[in-house]
Order: sequence, then C-alpha cells, then structure tokens
Amino acid sequence: MKKINVGLLGLGTVGTGVVRIVENHQHDLTSQSGSPIEIVKILVQDKSKARNISVSPDLLTDNPWDVVENPEIDVLVEVMGGIELAKELILAGLERGKHIVTANKDLMALHGPEIMAKAAEKGCDVFYEAAVAGGIPIIRTLTDSFSSDRITKIMGIVNGTTNFILTKMSQEGADYAEVLKEAQALGYAEANPTSDVEGFDAARKMTILSTLGFRTEVALGDVAVKGIFQISKEDIAYGKRLGYEVKLLGIAEREDEHISISVQPTMVKKSHPLASVNGVFNAVYVHGEAVGETMFYGAGAGELPTATSIVADLVAVVRNLNLGIVGRRGFVSYNEKKLKSDEQ
Ligand code: NAP
Ligand code: HSE
Repeated sequence: MKKINVGLLGLGTVGTGVVRIVENHQHDLTSQSGSPIEIVKILVQDKSKARNISVSPDLLTDNPWDVVENPEIDVLVEVMGGIELAKELILAGLERGKHIVTANKDLMALHGPEIMAKAAEKGCDVFYEAAVAGGIPIIRTLTDSFSSDRITKIMGIVNGTTNFILTKMSQEGADYAEVLKEAQALGYAEANPTSDVEGFDAARKMTILSTLGFRTEVALGDVAVKGIFQISKEDIAYGKRLGYEVKLLGIAEREDEHISISVQPTMVKKSHPLASVNGVFNAVYVHGEAVGETMFYGAGAGELPTATSIVADLVAVVRNLNLGIVGRRGFVSYNEKKLKSDEQ
C-alpha cells in the first residue's frame, strides 16, 4: 500500500483543521482511500508564529518551492488564500504532476478554467469542494448528483461571516463593527474581510455554483454585487417589525439561454426556510426541472467544517490515484454555448 505524501500550503484556520482531521482520522482515511496519507511539508509565512496546533518544526517551511518542487509530494493542499502566489504554486505543482485540493474560491472563480486546462494537460486531479459553503457538499451535488438534471435556480446564503453579523445584529442588536471583529477572531472572515462584507466572497462563490449548475462559462463580471456594510441595526429592526429578516442572498436563475446572477441584502419573509439560517450557517436552495426543489444546509465556514470538505477531496484524489483515474469537477469546456447574462 503506497503512502501518499501531502504538501500543505498554509496552516491558518483551515490548514489547522486539515492537520487535525488527517491525524485524528488516519485509520478511517486509509481504509476509505486505500493508502495512508501523511502531511510531509507545510508552507507558512512565519515559522516562529505561535499556533493552535503542535506540529514538528521540521515540517514547517517559509519557502514555497520546498513544497512545490519536492519530488516526494503527491498532492498539494492549498489553504493559504490570495490569488497570484496561490495560482503560481498550483500551476507549478500541476506542471510537476501533483494533484491539487484547494479551498480558494477567489482563485477558482477567476482562474478556474486555466487551472483545469493545465490539470487536463498533465492528467492531474483538481478538487475544490471547500471553496463554496464550507462543510456543505454543494459542488459534488451540482456536478455529480444533479448531472442528470437541468438546473434552473440556485439561491442561498453562501457567506458565513455576513450571516453571522446579520444574525447577531438581528437577535442581539449587536454592533456591526464588533461582530465583524468576532467573526475574524473565530476564523470565519477572509484575510481581507472587505471581501465578505462587500459581497465579493459570495459573488465568487455564486460564479462557481452558476458555472457548475448551469454548465456554462460564468465570469465574476456576470454577477451584480451589493454587500451588507451599509445595513444598519435600524434597517434590520424595521424589517423585523414587518415580518422579515435581512439576509445576504446569492440568486442565480436560468431562463432558456439567459442567466441572471446577483448577490444582495434581501428581506426574507420569516416563514421562509432561509430566514432561519443563522450564525455561520449557510444554506443553498437548488431547483432542477426534474428533481424540483432541494435545499442543503450546514456550517459555511470555520476550521473543522471546512477541513472536512478538504480532506474528503483528499480521499477522492487518493482513491483516484489507487484506481489509476483522474477526476476533475466542472470548469471543463462545455459543449453548450455561453449563456447570456444581465451584467455583461
Ligand atoms: P488564514 O487563517 O489566514 O491562513 C492562511 C495560511 O497561509 C497561514 O498559515 C499563512 O501563514 C499562510 N500564508 C499566507 N500567505 C502566505 C505566503 N505568501 N507564503 C507562505 N504562507 C502564506 O486563512 P484561512 O482562513 O485558513 O483560509 C485559507 C483559504 O481557505 C482561503 O482561500 C479562504 O478563502 C479559504 N476558506 C476559508 C474558510 C474559513 O472558514 N476560514 C472556509 C472556506 C474556505 P502564517 O500562519 O505564517 O501567517
Ligand atoms: N469568509 C468566508 C465566509 C469563509 O465567511 O463564508 C468561507 O468561505
């Protein structure tokens, strides 16, 4: 049984969760994937930083090429975030035949097609379940479970930080800036939380979900975006008095050859299931012509829920390696023509 060596790019909130799950579930992961999985190198920015997890100092490096050029490493797990360096390292890893698991929605929303093209050229896997809705397996669902259907609508709460903020403002009358700090301390927010509160993180996730669900090329520019940073406690209280909760909703609809995609704060009737999705939880509603209405719910951010998706992708890669197959999800060149969007 060949051991699979993993290079971990990042040991922050998500990377820490990945180390914990790989260590704690080793036996189970081996029996499910067919190989022992070992993290053999970890890229960080600052090797001397105090961490929430104890790892051997020998594992840590601040030189990305120690990981990417290491011939012993089979799989790169990218949980460092950012776009340019992450893209360079992933492409360099693929060039060397390494399989990729990433949580990076910014990167996949902007450069998904290029990364997938390189992966196809090199015969490598790329999986990115954690990029959308943390612990909810929505990418697998759209690409595998609903491959037989024609999806007409994808709607939901896909950003945990803003839902955490809006929930606390609604339920406790909490102050926006204070709750944002709390979301940062809990590891929910992006390194630059402007992405969360201005709606760009949700827009990137809707770009990915629409690409996969509608099986067409969707660009970030196709999404109309409005964030929550101008929402006041008074707006929320006013909505409540009228029987509504304010939620940051991503809504993607397809009608024939036309799609419209938006992210915006929305008054949701309290009786609607999305109104009771609270805190860091996300929910995604999917309508398909054959399946009808479906809904998926779970933690949208945070260490272990996100790491669950990453390690499941890792198991998928290792299974594929053992079966001698590759499996990428979406961002392939679809046969269907590009659907027209409102924002183009
Ligand atoms: P984080 O806590 O900020 O951790 C980032 C890690 O990457 C840190 O260990 C940092 O090193 C390292 N790093 C960053 N830039 C680097 C560089 N230039 N060179 C070397 N190391 C570098 O981020 P996170 O919250 O874990 O998120 C990671 C990724 O997962 C992002 O793409 C994010 O969007 C995505 N994601 C996050 C969540 C979540 O709940 N947090 C959920 C889903 C997806 P140091 O530790 O030394 O600073
Ligand atoms: N900052 C993101 C969120 C992390 O709050 O949803 C999960 O993608």
